[in-house]
Amino acid sequence: MQSNWQQSIFSTRATRDITLAVAVTFLVSMALVLFDVNERFIAAASRHEQWQVDELPLVLLVAYAALTWFSVRRWNESRQEVAARLEAEQKIAQLLAENQRLLRHSLEVQEEEKRSLARELHDELGQYLHAARTESVALRLGSSDKFIGERAKSIEHALTHIQLVARDIISKLRPPALDELGLSAALEQLVLRQCETSVDIQCSFNIAREVDAVGGPVAINAYRIAQECLTNIVRHAHASKVNFMARLAQNCLILEISDNGRGHPVPIVAGFGIAGIRERVDSLDGKLTMHSEPEYGVFVGVSLPLNKTVLKQEVI
Ligand SMILES: Nc1ncnc2c1ncn2[C@@H]1O[C@H](COP(=O)(O)OP(=O)(O)OP(=O)(O)O)[C@@H](O)[C@H]1O
Ligand SMILES: [Mg+2]
Repeated sequence: MQSNWQQSIFSTRATRDITLAVAVTFLVSMALVLFDVNERFIAAASRHEQWQVDELPLVLLVAYAALTWFSVRRWNESRQEVAARLEAEQKIAQLLAENQRLLRHSLEVQEEEKRSLARELHDELGQYLHAARTESVALRLGSSDKFIGERAKSIEHALTHIQLVARDIISKLRPPALDELGLSAALEQLVLRQCETSVDIQCSFNIAREVDAVGGPVAINAYRIAQECLTNIVRHAHASKVNFMARLAQNCLILEISDNGRGHPVPIVAGFGIAGIRERVDSLDGKLTMHSEPEYGVFVGVSLPLNKTVLKQEVI
């Protein structure tokens, strides 16, 4: 089926061309009548009978019919080509939409797996670690043997260390602040934690409280994007300053993260981080802007559209 667009393109151009053709034919025939061109031509042709010039009008008529046949065939061909191209474009759009849906689904599944892994680690591992630590304390306090007391103490140290590592893994798998305190507090904790790990970086942030209204996939994806950008700054940027901003504007969640480091190397060696950011933004139909200036740092801007399903409360 032809789309309206295709029909209108063909009809507007065809109408314009046929109008032009009729107008030119009319003007030329007026000129022919005015100057008696045919009579003059016949008189001239009879003077040059030996050249068969009088046959020229019929020859031209045949050539005209042949050209008409040629243009009608090309016209049909071009219509078929346009129709095929439109069909291919529609198919590509469909595949892209399907791809986006699959991407969104796989990211959701990934997050759900991380969430359940965090829950398992917290409930199972945490409980047994706590029990083992209590037992080792009891062993240390209940034994008068110096050797056993010292061994029990080192077990306690090891268990405390494992507990801290497990807590860190759990919070990376599923940031508890996101569920308990909301997106603004989770982002704030993230920025502070990343900046604590590198003392040379001075962090400034401006996170609007209104972003707490954002929940669902947009919140967790925004958190992951911010996490990757900040990790990249700590790992690659050699920056002394980081600016982090999060706000709502025009029914979108906006994140802007910039540093004053050395910028992306040229050519950039692609890793999974930036590709992951791109996938997350695409899966939510968002927009990603990335600028890099050598010695002036990197700017990452992300805009994620919000709809009612991701808003926890009405945003004013
Ligand atoms: N803020 C930044 N400043 C300077 N270079 C950066 C910055 N962010 C990213 N880069 C460059 O872009 C490259 C690609 O980043 P990307 O996050 O995709 O991969 P990665 O960090 O190297 O590895 P991973 O897959 O673990 O994230 C990095 O190797 C780094 O050279
Ligand atoms: Mg990275």
